This record gives sequence, structure tokens and C-alpha cells, in this order.
Amino acid sequence: MNHLELIKNLPKAELHLHIEGTFEPELMFEIARRNQISTRFKSVEEIREAYNFHNLQSFLDIYYEGANVLLHERDFYDLTMAYLVRCREDNVVHTEIFFDPQTHTERGVAFATMFRGIHQALQDAKKEWGITSHMIMCFLRHLSEEDAFKTLNESLPFKKDILAVGLDSSEVGHPPSKFQKVFEAAMSEGYLTVAHAGEEGPAAYIWEALDLLKVKRIDHGVRCLEDEKLMKRIIEEKIPLTVCPLSNLKLCVFKTLKEHNLKKLLDRGVKVTINSDDPAYFGGYANQNYIETAAALGLSSAELKTLAANSFEASFLSHSDKEKWISKVTSQN
Ligand code: HPA
Ligand code: ZN
Repeated sequence: MNHLELIKNLPKAELHLHIEGTFEPELMFEIARRNQISTRFKSVEEIREAYNFHNLQSFLDIYYEGANVLLHERDFYDLTMAYLVRCREDNVVHTEIFFDPQTHTERGVAFATMFRGIHQALQDAKKEWGITSHMIMCFLRHLSEEDAFKTLNESLPFKKDILAVGLDSSEVGHPPSKFQKVFEAAMSEGYLTVAHAGEEGPAAYIWEALDLLKVKRIDHGVRCLEDEKLMKRIIEEKIPLTVCPLSNLKLCVFKTLKEHNLKKLLDRGVKVTINSDDPAYFGGYANQNYIETAAALGLSSAELKTLAANSFEASFLSHSDKEKWISKVTSQN
């Protein structure tokens, strides 16, 4: 089987996906129109042309701008459902999605409005197509810890449907230690924890995420190779990294995909996974990330299967569900 077919056929879990980052310009335009919101863009093409990023912040500015047109429960439902349709096409059978409440509550959208729209779409995709999911609530790290506490409190009525908390947005200058107390409070409410670290920020932020925020996975984490002691820990403790190759390329974390360190990490025995991060902005959903990475780094079929198996192992699925999917991965030829 060639790589393309293998990638299509492999069941996969996606573990690093911002639902606001799946907002395709066509849908953005449609929702802006029905909500009677005018944007500075005249056409879908103009929006796409603006997607020229040189670092994380240049992306975040436009990502928050795009989210401004989301107002009603139906808007969040349509956004999420459009992503789930792509999951089905890519054989992503399980997804653990990030959502950013503060991006919406700061604009006056109620937590419940946003939450119910996203959650209903996830429920419907499970019923219709058997796609399973978890929700991970991210705090925006450029805002204060006090603001994160406010968001944590707003989430409590919906706690049974939120598995974990995470940390995203502008990394440099906003270390994990800034959020130690709110993560402790989240854990005492029963939330698991993950955090973006070592995307643009230093390896020291990965240490902090592990030691202070007690994370179960590191989102991105590609700068871990700069610290050999950290590498040893990540390998020994089997700490998964949710790597996003096309995101790293578009945000200039690596100059070219050929220079990406994913294969080095894989060769060292790190539990790496491939994910799409913000696919509407970075030019590809899960399979496109697998395809382009495999081509650039010369990944073998066995390595592609390892990556798919890792995606289930690193997930928050039950032990028996992990086993079930991993056996389907290994039986592909
Ligand atoms: N990094 C940090 N914050 C984000 C990202 C990312 O890749 N995507 C959406 N918010
Ligand atoms: Zn991310």
C-alpha cells in the first residue's frame, strides 16, 4: 500500500486542535453575513491572503479577529460540525478539542452559549458517525491568572463534560508558573491538565509545565531537544508530545518541513503524535499533516503506524478503547 492510502486507512486520534482554528473563511463569511457583522475583508480570497504569518503572535492577532463573528449557539455548532465532517473524511475517529472561552466571554458571549453549541455538535457526531471526543478548556496565557480563575468558575456547571484544562496563546513572557494556582484549583475540581510549552518558548517552560502544572501531555514541546536532561525525562516517563508540523512550518518554528525534528524525536523514542492545531489557518487537516511530514522526512509505513498508535496511547481514552484502536492500527498493511 502506498503512503497516501495507508494514511487514509489508518484510524487516528487528534489531540491538539483548537476549534476556533478550524474556522474556514467561507463559513466565517457566511456567519458574518447572517449576524450582520462587517469585517475588514471583502472576500474569502482576501481573508486567505492575510494568512501570511511570521510567528505565533502574527497568527494569533488574526485568529482572534476571525472568532469575533461567532455570537450564537448555532454559530459554535456550525463551526464544530464543519470540523467533525473533516474528521470523518480523514478517519479521525477520536478528537480531544481545545476551546478558548475567554476569546468569546471577553466579547460578551455567554460561556453557556459557546459551550452548548460546541458540545451539541460533538454529541451529534458521536451519534451519527461514532466519532468520540473530549473537551479541553484552555486559558489564554496573555491574560491574568485572575481572569483564568474567573473562567474556571464559569466552567463548573459544565464540569462533567470538560475533561481537562490547557494553556494557549502567546507563549514567550507568559510561563506556566504564572498559572500554577489556577491549575491546582482545576485539578482539585477533577480536571486533568495539559499545556502548550516549548513551541516558541524555551525548554524551561516544558519543565515548569511538568513540575508545576502536572501536565499529562505537552502541546508542541518541539524545543525539548535543546535540553538533554529534559529529553531523558520525557523518554523515561513516556510523556507524549502533541506535535503540529504544518503549524510549525507556517509559524516559522522550523524554516522548512525537512528541518522539522519530528523524526529525530521519534528515533529517540519520544511518544510523538501528529496533529493539525489550527487547520483552517495552517493549510491542512490531520491527513495533510501526516502526508506532508511523511514526504519531507521520509517516514516509513512502520513509522506512520507508530504515529497513529501513539495518538491513541497518548489520548485520554479508556485502556480498552486504546487497545481496540491500536490493534486496528497494527493490523493495517
Ligand atoms: N499556540 C499557542 N496558542 C494557540 C495556538 C498555538 O499553536 N493555536 C491557537 N492558539
Ligand atoms: Zn495549539
